[in-house]
Amino acid sequence: MIVGFLGFGEVASTLSEILIEDGCEVVSSSNGRSLKTLKLIKGLGVKDLNSFKEVAENCDILISANTPSKAVSIGKKYGSIADNIFLDLNNISPKSTKKIGDVVGENFVDGAIISKVGSDESVIFLSGEKAEEIAILDHFGLSVKVISDKIGDASKLKILRSIYTKGVSALLIETFEIAKQLNLEEDLLNTLAISEGDKFRSSSKSRIKNSIKHSRRKYEEVDEIIDFLKEFENVNVEFIESMKNTFK
Ligand SMILES: NC(=O)c1ccc[n+]([C@@H]2O[C@H](COP(=O)([O-])OP(=O)(O)OC[C@H]3O[C@@H](n4cnc5c(N)ncnc54)[C@H](OP(=O)(O)O)[C@@H]3O)[C@@H](O)[C@H]2O)c1
Repeated sequence: MIVGFLGFGEVASTLSEILIEDGCEVVSSSNGRSLKTLKLIKGLGVKDLNSFKEVAENCDILISANTPSKAVSIGKKYGSIADNIFLDLNNISPKSTKKIGDVVGENFVDGAIISKVGSDESVIFLSGEKAEEIAILDHFGLSVKVISDKIGDASKLKILRSIYTKGVSALLIETFEIAKQLNLEEDLLNTLAISEGDKFRSSSKSRIKNSIKHSRRKYEEVDEIIDFLKEFENVNVEFIESMKNTFK
């Protein structure tokens, strides 16, 4: 089986490593991308095609894993070039997911990476008519779970989880910034661990480090959350909007 990636960063490289080890062929394109992306492609021995169009034309499953702000335009442009399955793994709102699905049609699968990609507990939620077909990725080492045959179900769960996890990350970053200025960082960690448990120390440090490292992507993901929340009444959107300042 050949899997093609539109975008080759942390998600694509982590998944590719597992796929290749389990006998899958992987293709992508570094054309127009950064040196970092080129190095990841070369480092894993992934076939580097001339363009995303060629990638779309030369795979059985096409996966979009680039950046939330461009996911809709990339999905619309490349998602229906060939008659293969198109899986979107970007952290985008259910509304953005639907926009891609409306153009791609029945071959579109809504995907959601739950928990940090590559971590032991990480699982890919899938929804859409062809979700069962793509569940064969399980045979290639990826942990997948079919949620339903409806586009949007996987991304709804993903965005609800994202509201919670980003809120916790933003709160941690702000609290520890104050503690840093008071020279009380370690004392705060010890104090919180009393009620939050032993794992809190390592999990909060990892959350803060990861949020700072990927702040641009997190910032874009908060925009997707805000877009999603517009559909609901009695929701404190200003509270969510304020999280953007943390990831700026
Ligand atoms: N990392 C995670 O654990 C995780 C979990 C769940 C969901 N996601 C979602 O998965 C997607 C990818 O995340 P990632 O962590 O792999 O990001 P990443 O490490 O930043 O990699 C993004 C890749 O997409 C490329 N790209 C960026 N803008 C592009 C554009 N306009 N056109 C074409 N390619 C473009 C980048 O190329 P350049 O190097 O040239 O910028 C890079 O190859 C994001 O939408 C994210 O929200 C990530």
